[in-house]
Formats: sequence, structure tokens, C-alpha cells
Amino acid sequence: MIKIAIIGGTGVYDPRILDNVREEQIETPYGVVNYKVGEFRGKAIAFIPRHGTQHSIPPHLINYRANTWAMKKIGVQNIIATTAVGSLNLDMKPGDFVIIDQFLDFTKNRVTTFYEGGERGVAHLDVTEPYCPSLREKLRLSAQKSGIAVHTKGVYVCTEGPRFETPAEINMFAKLGGDLVGMTNVPEVTLAKEAEMCYATVSMVTNFAAGISPQPLTHHEVLETMAANAENIKKLIMECIDIMDTDTDCTCQHALAEYGGFKL
Ligand code: HPA
Repeated sequence: MIKIAIIGGTGVYDPRILDNVREEQIETPYGVVNYKVGEFRGKAIAFIPRHGTQHSIPPHLINYRANTWAMKKIGVQNIIATTAVGSLNLDMKPGDFVIIDQFLDFTKNRVTTFYEGGERGVAHLDVTEPYCPSLREKLRLSAQKSGIAVHTKGVYVCTEGPRFETPAEINMFAKLGGDLVGMTNVPEVTLAKEAEMCYATVSMVTNFAAGISPQPLTHHEVLETMAANAENIKKLIMECIDIMDTDTDCTCQHALAEYGGFKL
């Protein structure tokens, strides 16, 4: 059984930490998903590069529901995701890692639920704690053990993209309490919770956001910072997988108990 998945964001396209990697494909009600499966210290791990292996899928066209459904179908209970983010918070600098704990949703055109009425009905997911507190704590411990500095909380603002933001938007997000800005964590986090999986994200600050940064933003700059810190991301994830006990129960795995639980 594959109980752990990694969803790699910008700059994390290859699960080089895994042994015996094979490519797999699965059909879901939302489309076909290609993913890799490998092993790390005896644990089977699935890997999905969120933007495709060649960064060919933009944030607003990612098939979030298919990816989540596929992971649930193969037995995944814990997802560790990575995201590249811009920072609105001067204490969170390029190169820093943040184990985000809240989000502000500024997406516009995405399907954010498996529950659209009809046969599946309607469900109102509680997102008081959108990210699994237990998995976040394991990431914090892993960072500590590996000597990697992390911010243990942060508010992620999710924009629709694919364009970067205007300085006026960044100013507004900062006033609303946002720390970081990215384009992919919503609805990935909420779909994982609807599907009753533990989910946590390590955000990697690649740049100060528009208007805070003295220069115009480039995707190249984002990739460069990701590449410079790829080793630390790998170390953090490896350590976390090592200390993960996939047999323990968690409230995330009963997130829809009120609605009879999530059904594939
Ligand atoms: N804005 C949105 N998404 C991002 C940024 C940014 O500044 N940097 C990396 N991903």
C-alpha cells in the first residue's frame, strides 16, 4: 500500500530521493493522472510533479481533483506538498522555508470541491485547520533534526495566476494578513481534506513579492532560488518520511464524518 505522496511544486520535478522508481497511470472520473512510485527506506512513496515534468501545466489548469482522487485511490493517507512562493513579509526572505498554517483564497475560476450536488450531494468542509497539525509538527521536527531553519506558521494567499500580482494587490494582501503569495495551494489543500487525507505544505520563498522586490519578477528568478535550495527541500522531506508513522489515525482522516465519510 502506498500511504505517502509528495506533490512537487515549481522546481521539484523529480523524486530523486526514491529508489526503484516506476511510472504509473490511473484513470479517475476527472481524467488520467500520471505519477511515479518509488521507495524510500522501505516505505512506498508516490510522486506527482504538480506542473508536469516539464513545467507545462499552468496553475489555473492543474487537474487538482484528478490528482487528489488518484492519490486517494492508491491508498495515500499523507501528502507532503512543496510550493514556491513570493513573500509579503519582510521576516520571510528568499531562501526561507515556511510550514504554512492558513490560507486566503483569491482564486477565481477553479472547481474547489468534489461535492457539486447530484449523486455526491453537498458537503461543507470545516477548514479551521486546513493543514494537518500533526504532519506540520513532523515537518518542524524534521527541519530541526536536519538543521534547517523554518518559519512554523504563515498565511498563504492563493491567486489565480498565471500572471504575477500587481503591487496594489500585494499591498492589499499584506493588509489582510497574508505572508506569502502563490498560485497553487488552493484548492489542493481543501480537496485533500475533503478526501480525508493528511496534507501539509512546505513553502519555499523564492522572491519578495511585486512592489516589495526592487525589480520586476521573473520565473527565472523563482527557478534559480528553488534550485539553490533543492538539497534542503530533499533533506527535509526525507527526514519527515523517515519519522512518519502511517498507521496512526488522525482527525483529517475523518474530516467528512458528518457526511458519512469520503467515498471514491
Ligand atoms: N507570486 C505568485 N506566485 C509565486 C511568486 C509570486 O511572487 N513567487 C513564486 N510563486
